Amino acid sequence: MSTRQIIHQVAEEVRARLEGEGSGHDWWHVRRVWQLAQRLGREEKADMFVVELAALLHDIADWKLHGGDDSVGPRVAREVMTTRKVPEDVMAQVCEIIPAMAFKGAGVKTDMLTLEGKVVQDADRLDAIGAIGVARTFAFGGFKGHIIYDPNVKPVAHSTKESYAGSKGPVINHFYEKLLLLKDRMNTRAAKRIAGARHKFMEKYLQQFYQEWKGKA
Ligand code: ADP
Ligand code: NI
Repeated sequence: MSTRQIIHQVAEEVRARLEGEGSGHDWWHVRRVWQLAQRLGREEKADMFVVELAALLHDIADWKLHGGDDSVGPRVAREVMTTRKVPEDVMAQVCEIIPAMAFKGAGVKTDMLTLEGKVVQDADRLDAIGAIGVARTFAFGGFKGHIIYDPNVKPVAHSTKESYAGSKGPVINHFYEKLLLLKDRMNTRAAKRIAGARHKFMEKYLQQFYQEWKGKA
């Protein structure tokens, strides 16, 4: 099988598995991350086979939705790749990237070692900000049954992945606990550029939100 055929088959399998996912980690999220990763990866001259596979498989089994276990993602990814006879060294690179991708709280370091990992992490994080980021955050909050906003509940800079994943805070708090922090955590130049504009949009969104909240807009 050619690398193009492998990518196509993996994409089809991921689409089938994540099609109806309701927490904002659905197939369309994966497809956007896949496309953004190709854009960033070309600019950074990364190994595009590794980049595309990691982008496609990064949310195949999210740790937050599997009781905090971040070994499920790489295991399922390996199964999907083994069926398509992806070379072992490529599988190893992809499986190293997947558990390192996730944001795990403001105070939790998540360094990415390889260029391919940096590219895919940036692509995933770009899809967490801007207009789409706002939409996904409210979708996730609804999925979990969180309220929109409570001015008496302050944002928390989570220092462990357990407290981040277990957060029941209002959705607006997530902007301060994650979304507004991402701009300064981008790895690649291209992603920093794109993140700047998306960040500004979120700031405007929040301004308008508070104006309406106070009855001033
Ligand atoms: P990553 O893709 O870095 O692993 P997550 O899976 O933690 O990030 O989050 C993906 C998206 O899900 C976030 O960008 C956000 O839109 C939403 N999300 C995650 N946790 C929360 C939360 N506690 N409240 C609201 N939205 C959340
Ligand atoms: Ni993702």
